[in-house]
Amino acid sequence: MTVQSKEKVVLVTGATRGIGHAIAEKLADTYPLIITGRSGDHLNALKKKLTDMGGRVEAIPADLSSPEEIKTLVEASVRSMGRIDCLINNAGMGIFGRVDEIQEKDFRQVLELNLMAPFLLTKAVLPDMIARKAGQIINISSVAGLNGFKGGGAYAASKFALNGFTESLREDVKEFGIAVTAVCPGGVRTEFGGSPASVRDFVLEPEDVAHTVRYLVDESESANTKLIELKPRRRPDFR
Ligand SMILES: NC(=O)c1ccc[n+]([C@@H]2O[C@H](COP(=O)([O-])OP(=O)(O)OC[C@H]3O[C@@H](n4cnc5c(N)ncnc54)[C@H](OP(=O)(O)O)[C@@H]3O)[C@@H](O)[C@H]2O)c1
Repeated sequence: MTVQSKEKVVLVTGATRGIGHAIAEKLADTYPLIITGRSGDHLNALKKKLTDMGGRVEAIPADLSSPEEIKTLVEASVRSMGRIDCLINNAGMGIFGRVDEIQEKDFRQVLELNLMAPFLLTKAVLPDMIARKAGQIINISSVAGLNGFKGGGAYAASKFALNGFTESLREDVKEFGIAVTAVCPGGVRTEFGGSPASVRDFVLEPEDVAHTVRYLVDESESANTKLIELKPRRRPDFR
């Protein structure tokens, strides 16, 4: 795929549904995209939709709980688009339960996807960003990264850790002109956690988060929004 040197190539994880899907849709009219997730069918359907609308999109399936697949994903992305200018770590999961009841393997699985995958992806893309003295990393965290909650031992631990990682990463790389941001949404109407959330009065839509991410990707090259806490307000249909 031909990408101009001034264009910003964006890699979006967890793009098969929910927030990542909405982010890809929101960026596709301007930015060359690499979309990833485990479901090849969903990725290909999104690629077709965005390509039909004039977008330039590469779909590369990967299971981000596998360090080998993360490595292969980054290599394949660079092969196909030449580079990654903006990494959006959006893929994530939640397993909930009281701390004495949650299984150790489930706790580890949540940390693996929500914390280790962003770390490994960041580690894989950073050397090139540092060499080029440009780049952007956006981590989709959660309000659960700012406040604990009942049953949130594993999930909140992963998102608090992701926020600490994001904050420190920003300090590490600001001298290279690389922007790093944590986005912390409240409840979003997606299939997150197993079943589609019902339409409640105070809930964000995936497009709301995508709108915020679009703002960040468009942001001035000399500024860096550190953290955005995005809360819903009462939906028009409930006012
Ligand atoms: N929904 C909310 O209320 C809410 C609120 C605050 C923050 N967030 C955060 O927002 C992010 C997106 O959540 P969402 O609500 O859009 O969730 P979702 O609808 O469940 O989508 C999760 C995405 O992550 C991908 N994914 C899951 N496991 C994966 C794995 N092992 N390897 C690669 N990709 C994987 C899924 O694709 P495949 O299944 O195809 O792999 C899917 O595209 C998460 O980080 C979540 O913590 C969500």
